[in-house]
Amino acid sequence: MTESFTPKNIIVTGGCGFIGSNFVHYVVNNHPDVHVTVLDALTYAGNLENIKPLLGDQVEFVHGNICDAQLLDELVPGHDAIVHYAAESHNDNSIADPEPFLKTNVEGTFRLIEAARKYDVRFHHVSTDEVYGDLALDDPAKFTEETPYHPSSPYSSTKASSDLLVRAWFRTYGLRMTISNCSNNYGPYQHVEKFIPRQITNIIEGIRPKLYGDGLNVRDWIHTEDHSSAVWTILTQGRLGETYLIGANGERNNLTVLKDILRVMGQPEDAFDWVKDRPGHDRRYAIDATKLRTELGWKPTHTDFESGLRATVQWYVDNPQWWEPVKAATEAKYKAQGQ
Ligand code: NAD
Ligand code: DAU
Repeated sequence: MTESFTPKNIIVTGGCGFIGSNFVHYVVNNHPDVHVTVLDALTYAGNLENIKPLLGDQVEFVHGNICDAQLLDELVPGHDAIVHYAAESHNDNSIADPEPFLKTNVEGTFRLIEAARKYDVRFHHVSTDEVYGDLALDDPAKFTEETPYHPSSPYSSTKASSDLLVRAWFRTYGLRMTISNCSNNYGPYQHVEKFIPRQITNIIEGIRPKLYGDGLNVRDWIHTEDHSSAVWTILTQGRLGETYLIGANGERNNLTVLKDILRVMGQPEDAFDWVKDRPGHDRRYAIDATKLRTELGWKPTHTDFESGLRATVQWYVDNPQWWEPVKAATEAKYKAQGQ
């Protein structure tokens, strides 16, 4: 039995980042009666421009840190749900400097669930498939909600820790919560440190794309708008205490994705550099989203990867003012790491 929940006044943490801001656009486009308070610290990954055109009666922005318990005491009462996207999200950064990941992903989630418990506010925790570790390339298996936790990187271990905190708060305190674990997102507003936007913007700038290791690592790509519709479905129809995996059967290895990008952008297929592998690099992720599809009736709409990729390339071509200011520093950081 699914339970219906009708939120009216939600907090979206991390709503100025890639997926959080796409979720705010999704709510504005599909649920004009829902008020959204975006709470975001505007770290290097947050950009107020992502939601600026939406600010007004429906969407409000609060500049603050999820680790700030006093701020949460002022902000949370009066809201009926928290949708928690805020995180340090990039694996390579977590390898270079893990501490901010502990702070935001673990302590920040702890502060939020404490506030949600205190003010009896429903909590949706946005997490990742990386908590399950990785699969072999020739393994027919996919991750399910029953797969044991086995995270590999500092990033994924902090996300796994946060999931466990949220589960414990449900069992111990009856926190009204749901969790989703999604696969790799692509689409507009993704930081140029991530694989797809890094290669697109490299090509625009005349820099050769960079492929880690042997390029055969597999990711299960989903368009960020499909992630948003899945989170909305789980928030409003999901069963309390449950975890739902989100994925759209988009398995592709990195070499294939890079060749797709090169082709879409009119470049030769071999116009890229092989670079040093990521330490501990997860081999393959794959999601079995049967529970979400059958129990809650969700399905993705962006099922043609190539057309989603074309639209994403076009977005970066059309919006250089969005990414150019951070591009040089991002590439300098990678260069120093040999990547
Ligand atoms: P992102 O790095 O693009 O954005 C993170 C946002 O959180 C930024 O706006 C940043 O300013 C904000 N933030 C960071 N620390 C904060 C703090 N202490 N207090 C308040 N705000 C803070 O991340 P993303 O790729 O959009 O990922 C969002 C969420 O989705 C994360 O929880 C991530 O683990 C999860 N996720 C991401 C993917 C993916 O493919 N990117 C897939 C599955 C799950
Ligand atoms: O699976 C969900 C996860 O997907 C999210 O939890 C993370 O927040 C998100 O960053 C993403 O993690 P990945 O590590 O899979 O994404 P990233 O874009 O960093 O890399 C995707 C793949 O591409 C990975 O196998 C590493 C490789 N790569 C990455 C970069 C930046 C390259 O080959 N070259 C590159 O330049």
